[in-house]
Parts: sequence; structure tokens; C-alpha cells
Amino acid sequence: MSDPILSVESVHVSYGRVNAVRDVSIEVPEGGLVALVGANGAGKSSVLGAVCGLVRPKSGAVRLDGKDITRWPTHRRVGAGLVLVPEGRQILGTLTVAENLRLGAHRRRRSAASESEMYELFPVLAERRSLPASALSGGEQQMLAIARAMIARPRVVLLDEPSMGLAPKMVDEVFSVIEKIRSTGVTVVLVEQNARRALRAADTGYVLETGEIAHSGPASELLEHPRVVEAYLGVE
Ligand SMILES: Nc1ncnc2c1ncn2[C@@H]1O[C@H](COP(=O)(O)OP(=O)(O)O)[C@@H](O)[C@H]1O
Ligand SMILES: [Mg+2]
Repeated sequence: MSDPILSVESVHVSYGRVNAVRDVSIEVPEGGLVALVGANGAGKSSVLGAVCGLVRPKSGAVRLDGKDITRWPTHRRVGAGLVLVPEGRQILGTLTVAENLRLGAHRRRRSAASESEMYELFPVLAERRSLPASALSGGEQQMLAIARAMIARPRVVLLDEPSMGLAPKMVDEVFSVIEKIRSTGVTVVLVEQNARRALRAADTGYVLETGEIAHSGPASELLEHPRVVEAYLGVE
């Protein structure tokens, strides 16, 4: 197998005396879709924080193309193509859809995609481009948050709970956009509490329990793993 585009190696994250992440290692192959699932508070966002430079791991390393980026500031990681869509979307409600997109492009000026490319990928945003982002539904705001990341032409996109709080129809749309992104060759790391949907979309999965990797492997195997089914999948 080829070397991973992104790897997390024995990362520990703590907040004061709270050890949020312990000895977590994750390998993300280029062009792959890796799901990181687990309960609320398991440490999923903290892992993403370490990957994109929002939290400094106490120990361990993060590598992009084999290069140690553990101490790089976030903007440098964005410049190298590693972009986060944060939990809770964090779009700017008073700015229009188009202005939010331009902010995303500004983060990677030289090689950013065009707004019109994003409207092709996210037609719902085209119709609403002049509206303030606060006028969008929750699902549309999530689309905008993803589009704002995609306009930076990421090589790896990290999605933190993109389906959280959305109506079932919008959850379907968000997952179909994730498939579309993946089909363009962009590598995806998907953090979800919706373990079943995430593992169905992914090639590889990691299950995080109280800061540690409890299970990992091909997503299709995790979907059948008795302990994973019992704790995270249940009856459909
Ligand atoms: N900024 C912070 N300060 C203190 N504790 C935090 C902070 N962020 C997260 N935690 C704690 O770290 C643990 C993991 O949180 P988090 O990574 O947000 O989990 P998840 O994303 O899986 O819900 C939790 O116990 C949470 O309370
Ligand atoms: Mg989280």
C-alpha cells in the first residue's frame, strides 16, 4: 500500500488535568474516506484539533505526506491543503453566502477554486448567494460550511459532525455531498456520532472510546463487529 497522506501517531491531548485523547494513531490513505466515530465527549474533535493545529498535542506527531507538521500553525496547514469544517459550522451569519465563500477562498488565495465551481457542486447555494447566511436552513448552512472549505481546494478535508442536528432529508444530502467530494479525489476524514451512516460511507473506520481507539479496521467489518454493533449501531 502507498504511504498515507495523513497520519496521526500516538497523539495525546490534554486540557489541564483532563486527558481527552490517549495514544491515538490513525492512518489516512490518499483519496480515502476514513470515519472516526464515538460518543459525545470521546475525544473526536480533539483529534481533529490536533490534526489542524487548533490544539497542541502533549505528545505524538501529525504527518502530512510524511512530513512532521505537529508544530505548524493552522494557516500553514491550510496552505498545504488540510482544511477543517468545524463542528457547529461557524459560518458568519450576517455575511451573504457569496461573502462566506470568498472568505474561504481568501485563505488559499493562489489556488482557490471559483465561486461558480462551488455553485455547481452545491446548487442550493447558487439560488441563495445574495442572502445572509443566517437566512439559510441548518442543512444549507452545513453545505455552505463545506463549500467554504472546498473552495480552498483542499487535499484533505476534515468534517466534524456534519450531519449533527439536521433533518433526515438533509442528512442524506450532506452524505451525498461527501460522496461527491470523495469522487473528485479529495481525501476525507469524517467525524460523526451517526456511526452507521459514517461507516457505510467510509473505507476505514476508527472507534474512539473515552479518548482511546477501541476498534479499527475496514468499515464494512466494523459494521458487523458485535461490540461495535451493540454499542454504536443497535437496531436500525
Ligand atoms: N477546551 C476544553 N477544555 C477542557 N476540556 C475540554 C475542552 N475541549 C474538550 N474537552 C474535554 O475533552 C473530552 C473530549 O472532548 P471532545 O474532543 O470535544 O469530544 P467529542 O468531539 O468526541 O465530543 C471531553 O471530556 C471534553 O469535556
Ligand atoms: Mg466533537
